Amino acid sequence: MTAYTVPSDACRRPIAIDGAGTIGRQIATAYAAGGSDVRLFDLSQSQREAAGDYVREHVGRFRTKLNPDGPRTGRATVCGSLDEAVDGAWMVVEAISEKLELKQATFALLDETADDDAILASNSSSIPTSQLVGSVRHRERVLNTHYFMLPDINAVELMSCGETDEGVITGLMEEIPHYGLAPFRVRRESDGFIFNRIWAAVKRECLMVVQEGVAAPEDVDEMWKIFTSPGIPPFRFMDQVGLDVVLDIEEHYASVRPGLPEGPRQLLKMLIDEGRLGVKSGRGFYGDPSVVRA
Ligand SMILES: NC(=O)c1ccc[n+]([C@@H]2O[C@H](COP(=O)([O-])OP(=O)(O)OC[C@H]3O[C@@H](n4cnc5c(N)ncnc54)[C@H](O)[C@@H]3O)[C@@H](O)[C@H]2O)c1
Repeated sequence: MTAYTVPSDACRRPIAIDGAGTIGRQIATAYAAGGSDVRLFDLSQSQREAAGDYVREHVGRFRTKLNPDGPRTGRATVCGSLDEAVDGAWMVVEAISEKLELKQATFALLDETADDDAILASNSSSIPTSQLVGSVRHRERVLNTHYFMLPDINAVELMSCGETDEGVITGLMEEIPHYGLAPFRVRRESDGFIFNRIWAAVKRECLMVVQEGVAAPEDVDEMWKIFTSPGIPPFRFMDQVGLDVVLDIEEHYASVRPGLPEGPRQLLKMLIDEGRLGVKSGRGFYGDPSVVRA
């Protein structure tokens, strides 16, 4: 079996983007801002041409915002065929419409047309690549790379298709920061990516307090600003509150709202059983919970 990783000559080869809509053109601009030549393909001629214009117009702004290591910007080429776009590319990022059958057919095609050593990445928001590789021969080079609204949100979540070569994931974890992007590894297959799941829970509860008449949308927004402005992230925050107290609160919610999953309370109980209560016991989720970095 071929071992896959980031090809050693990646810095001299282009990155291909298949699907040049809202996010595809942003991904292309981020890589061009970091010095890679990018090739843009989209089934729609108007979309691919608009994407080329977008990259050229915004590459300077992306460069300022992402502060990549590379000393120059790359060139954006609009391609009239997928074959032309992927030829020579070391990585192909699929950012076509969120339709399972379309993406499955696209990965079968990319496996045939892309260079043998190219990494094949899907930017799907909700479909794990394990569902896209049915007709792919070299699944070891396929993974999800999930980008957000660039350049403001520079996180990229990397998730294996279940058969992804470890070298591909570790290689991208090393390579992507050179472009000013912040990679995070999704440690097992998940329906929805890390931050999408967190955001789904936040959004759901925001909608509920408004729908129940508990708060007005403007109050939620104002309170959100107050609560997030100190920049204390959730696990640091729970360590400060005390994990025993957090568990009591969660138990109360569970008693008044049947059906809440037990996993979060089980995790808290496990830590509490080990004497890890957060700042008050010297250890919580963090080894030294008193050190708070915003
Ligand atoms: N918009 C976002 O903020 C965002 C964020 C993360 C992930 N995503 C994901 O990225 C993907 C693209 O989302 P988008 O918002 O850019 O959608 P979009 O509708 O703006 O763009 C999709 C593009 O794909 C093209 N396309 C469709 N079928 C194609 C094919 N077979 N070959 C080539 N091009 C094809 C369309 O012409 C269109 O230009 C989706 O999977 C979406 O879930 C989007």
